[in-house]
Amino acid sequence: MPLPFPDALLPIPHRRDVPFARLTTLGVGGLCRWLFEPVDEDQAQAFVRACAREALPWRMLGGGSNLVVLGDVQLAMRLRFPEPPRREGLEVSAPASYGHIRLSQDTAAMGLSGLEYASGIPGSVGGAMHMNAGAYGRELVDVLARYRFLTAEGERVEKAPEPGEFSYRWSVLGGGRVALGLTLRLAEGDPERIRAMVADYRARRGTSQPLGKRNAGCIFKNPPGQSAGRLIDQAGLKGLRVGDAEVSPDHGNFLVNHGGATSAQFAELMALVRTRVQEVHGIDLEPEVEIWQTA
Ligand code: EPU
Repeated sequence: MPLPFPDALLPIPHRRDVPFARLTTLGVGGLCRWLFEPVDEDQAQAFVRACAREALPWRMLGGGSNLVVLGDVQLAMRLRFPEPPRREGLEVSAPASYGHIRLSQDTAAMGLSGLEYASGIPGSVGGAMHMNAGAYGRELVDVLARYRFLTAEGERVEKAPEPGEFSYRWSVLGGGRVALGLTLRLAEGDPERIRAMVADYRARRGTSQPLGKRNAGCIFKNPPGQSAGRLIDQAGLKGLRVGDAEVSPDHGNFLVNHGGATSAQFAELMALVRTRVQEVHGIDLEPEVEIWQTA
């Protein structure tokens, strides 16, 4: 049988038939038929260029912590760049595949302030760039000096963020672009105070969110001026279950997997929540997580 993609991709490290249950924190989904894992920017660029040339559809996988996969996916890429973060003065650069929480911990250990809020946000740095991840009134763009990415055609770009490129849980890095890395501009801080802030953010998150269960973070975006979690809670939906998928009794905007949930059950539960919130509050909740239909 001919390969479903050009031979030029084969030198890039890859794996076959990897279950999304192992690639996502929620732990559901079908198989990733071909998962390419470039170890440097040249390999990532070769992948994007070849797919663009052949008009091959593919998906970008990060840490899998903000993702609900509903079926099998034919072709995906996940970066595995080995470089650790680099510090130059008040700036810290990291590759997109680096852990977001680790980067927050590293910068805290360097005595640099600005990324404390991220100490409880899982996933990769690239995922955080893609979603402009945030918490407690702060978000990535607040500390972003420069970012690197590939265009959908595979051109490398490095630039400073400009107005309109990052907003609430959204960035310009969708649409086939690939986040490659970032440079943060941080501030000199008192190490004791930074450590205390990190501990406080982690503790706050641990008390209000069901971090002990498999989940994908907040499922819906907060409508302007509202909290999706509170709206779901007020609609009486906490504890609602479809099989092993449940609206967390701890936080209404988290759906948890008790172990044996399927992607169909999560899709059904999300649809139920959306319909009930529309009926009770007249508000259409928009998913905050990425949802991958079969591709
Ligand atoms: N609330 C309820 N019931 C609930 C959940 C929340 O009444 O079931 C109330 C809380 O008591 C609070 C208000 O709603 O008064 C806001 O709740 P919370 O502080 O938990 O914040 P949130 O708006 O639900 C947002 C982000 C989180 C982030 C927290 C902390 C979104 C969709 N969610 O949640 O981000 O961790 O603030 O800053 O923007 C994520 O992105 O995956 C995520 C979880």
